[in-house]
Amino acid sequence: MRIDLITALPELVESPLAHSIIGRARESGVVEIHVHDLREWGKGKYRHIDAPPYGGGGGMVLTPEPLADCLDAVIALGDAPEAVVFLTPDGETLDQPLANGLSLAKRLVLIAGHYKNIDQRIRDLYVTREVSIGDYVLSGGELPALVLIDALVRILPGAISDAQSALSDSFQDGLLDAPAYTRPASFRGLDVPDVLRSGDHAAISDWREDQRVAKTRQRRPDLLSGAD
Ligand code: ADE
Repeated sequence: MRIDLITALPELVESPLAHSIIGRARESGVVEIHVHDLREWGKGKYRHIDAPPYGGGGGMVLTPEPLADCLDAVIALGDAPEAVVFLTPDGETLDQPLANGLSLAKRLVLIAGHYKNIDQRIRDLYVTREVSIGDYVLSGGELPALVLIDALVRILPGAISDAQSALSDSFQDGLLDAPAYTRPASFRGLDVPDVLRSGDHAAISDWREDQRVAKTRQRRPDLLSGAD
């Protein structure tokens, strides 16, 4: 998979994209991620990329010309992207099925706006998917873009050494995850459940399933109707 991320704040995303699972997936060629600084396409001496909104109101809006020029240049760098995704609180809410679907794309172009909005004509002309990471407003699309990239990359084949690990994530089958324990067997008076130390894999699997259903029923009963 190839991901191109357009942002006016590349320094905000570069370090998180260089470490841990995403960093390793890039190094091993599971994913190619390119960050593009929108300001390089800015206009005039000061490389302007934003302006106040027509009709008044607070905040600044990313102007269409730099973003369109940037998108044209970025799109031309490879095969046609399956989607041009704008991160916005107006978008469809990111969940595991949406991440699974997008992870099948060979190429995605992501736009992170760091201002009040981007000009609607960019949304009309270029954007094919609008994605929100939840019903709250952040200062920009950079953190949402990182959230989306993380959700996508961790499920790409080869990104996680233990393939089971991504498949058994919470939400992958519609249930929350079971509690996890590691050494020591006893900690501040709390013991690891005996079954996890029994070596009986069928019993462990049953226990985990029971825990997942019970936790989901208690915390997110809304998920149970859609669970496998
Ligand atoms: N930009 C600002 N807030 C956002 C959100 N909740 N999801 C996606 N993009 C955003």
